Amino acid sequence: MFVSLAFTLLLGATAALASPHNVTRRVCGTVTSDADVLRMEQDFQAKKVAVSDVKTPVTIPVLFHVVSKDSTAIGGNIPDSQIAEQIVVMNKAYGNASITWVLAGTTRTVNAVWFNTAGPDTSAQTAMKKALRQGGANVLQRLYCRLQFRNPKDDGVVILFSSVPGGTAVPYNFGQTLTHEAGHWVGLFHTFQGGCSGAGDQVDDTPSEASPAFGCPNGRDTCSSAGVDPIHNYMDYTDDVCMTEFTAGQVARLKTQIATYRGITV
Ligand SMILES: *[C@@H]1O[C@H](CO)[C@@H](O)[C@H](O)[C@H]1NC(C)=O
Ligand SMILES: *[C@@H]1O[C@H](CO)[C@@H](O)[C@H](O)[C@H]1NC(C)=O
Ligand SMILES: [Zn+2]
Repeated sequence: MFVSLAFTLLLGATAALASPHNVTRRVCGTVTSDADVLRMEQDFQAKKVAVSDVKTPVTIPVLFHVVSKDSTAIGGNIPDSQIAEQIVVMNKAYGNASITWVLAGTTRTVNAVWFNTAGPDTSAQTAMKKALRQGGANVLQRLYCRLQFRNPKDDGVVILFSSVPGGTAVPYNFGQTLTHEAGHWVGLFHTFQGGCSGAGDQVDDTPSEASPAFGCPNGRDTCSSAGVDPIHNYMDYTDDVCMTEFTAGQVARLKTQIATYRGITV
C-alpha cells in the first residue's frame, strides 16, 4: 500500500511477496540488512521533520489490487467483504497512531503468471506494480505528485491473498500481515532487527530480541538486556492472534517517518 495512498496487492503463495511467504512460517518480504538500517537512519536523522506531540487524526487512502489466477475466491479473487474486514483490522491496530486507513478503490486482475511468479525482487513484480499503479484511479494519482517517496516506483505492499481476515493462511489469517507490512510502509523495522546488539529497530521501548519469534511464545527472553521479547508486537513474526500492539515509541517513530518521507502529518 502506499502514499497518501496506500497500494496493496494480493497475490498467490509462491508469488507472495510479503508475508507470509510460507504459510508454515511467516517470512516477510521486507528484510533489511544492518548496514542498510544504518544508511537509512543517517538519511532520516539528516532530513527529519519535527512533529508535535499533538495527535492530528489522519486518513490514508488505500488501494487494493487483487491479482488472482482465475475469477474464483479460491483462485485469489477475494470478495469485497474480506477487504472491508481487513481495513477494520488495520484501523484497530493503528488507532493509537491516529491513523485511519480508508479503502479508496479495488482493482481486480486475473493474471496467473503474476499470481504465481511475481515474487520479491523479481522483474515480474516490478512490471506488475508499474502496470497496476498506472491503472489506478486518476484522482488518486494526483495525490501522488504531492508526496515524496523513498522509492516511488516500487512502493507497494504485497501480501498473500489468503492472509486477509477469514482467509485460509492459518495461523496468519486474521489480517495482521497487512498491519505488519503497513508498519514497514510507515517506517518501522522488525523488532528483531540487529538481534541483541546495537540500536535494533531504532525504538527504545521495544526490548531487543535475538531472532524472530514464531507461534506465541509467552515469556520468551533471548537477550540479556532488560525486558522480555516483544512477541505481541505487530513487527515481530508471531501468529496473527498473538499480535496486539505498537508501542508508544513506535508510534512516535512512525509519525516522524511519514512526516519526513510521505508528507503526512499525524
Ligand atoms: C516453510 O517453512 C518451513 C519451516 O520453517 C520450512 O521447513 C520449509 O522449507 C519452508 N518452505 C518453503 C517453501 O520455503
Ligand atoms: C494503545 O495504547 C494503549 C496504552 O498505551 C496500549 O495498552 C494498547 O496496547 C495500544 N493498542 C495498540 C493496538 O497498540
Ligand atoms: Zn516485515
